[in-house]
Amino acid sequence: MTAETARATLIDGKAYAAALVDRVAAASARLETAHGVKPGLAVVIVGEDPASQIYVRNKGETTQRAGMRSDTHRLADSTNQEDLLALIAALNADAGIHGILVQLPLPAHIDSAAVLGAIDPDKDVDGFHVVNVGRLAVGLPGLVPCTPLGCLMLLKDALGDLSGLNAVIVGRSNIVGKPMAQLLLGESCTVTVAHSRTRDLPDLCRTADILVAAVGRPEMVRGDWIKPGATVIDVGINRVPSRDTVKALEGKTRVVGDVAFDEAIEVAGRITPVPGGVGPMTIACLLANTYTAACRAAGVTPEELGA
Ligand code: GUN
Repeated sequence: MTAETARATLIDGKAYAAALVDRVAAASARLETAHGVKPGLAVVIVGEDPASQIYVRNKGETTQRAGMRSDTHRLADSTNQEDLLALIAALNADAGIHGILVQLPLPAHIDSAAVLGAIDPDKDVDGFHVVNVGRLAVGLPGLVPCTPLGCLMLLKDALGDLSGLNAVIVGRSNIVGKPMAQLLLGESCTVTVAHSRTRDLPDLCRTADILVAAVGRPEMVRGDWIKPGATVIDVGINRVPSRDTVKALEGKTRVVGDVAFDEAIEVAGRITPVPGGVGPMTIACLLANTYTAACRAAGVTPEELGA
């Protein structure tokens, strides 16, 4: 007789994100009524990268739907660093703008670190400024990168108290892996960050109660890397050829995560799908951060929005 394993429960990031956007919208409306402050987000995009254009359009539309001010600054690929820094200085000084996001990647001729470092840390809704990285590391209130913040909300909503759980994060990026490690340490998890040089990665992953995949390699994490019953958070958004050979030859693609979902769902206890898992949480948390920044600028304690 073969052992019966229950299929994993799906973590519905899309629904959680929609509800979070609603909570942010309601809290923002109360902030405006009570204190005359309408949260404002400025998004800056340089160049024509098609994926970035889609992200930026989605951010603008969602911000407006939440009743916030949304300004998008579209700059030519040829924009020089001086002009970009001048725009950031103007946005830093604009009292109606509480959040500033510079879409990455920037063109090669621009020094991204210098640009991110020029953003007022209290308006840095991406949480990429070294001041916010430091605040997160030492447990001070700051602004936390949106994707790992969204992952943490989904984990707390699914599991409640995370303390004592073994968390393995595959990927050490500044945008996801490292801040995710800080957040999970803050929840008293035992955290391991794995990367391309990690030895025996499948064995390491099998120790994880919480497995976060954030490497940008399609379906790298296999089903037999997962401890039965573990919670799997798939941050990957990878375009691969369509399953249908004819469509693939026509150039049709589909989106997959960093986890082999069809295998993982047979082993994991809970798993985020791709699409519809972590992805929608990023924009929702961007709005939450903008609301938080607006409250702090107004000297008001933000309402609790997360799980
Ligand atoms: N490009 C891809 N992801 C992100 C993100 O989270 N923030 C910014 N600014 N650019 C990105």
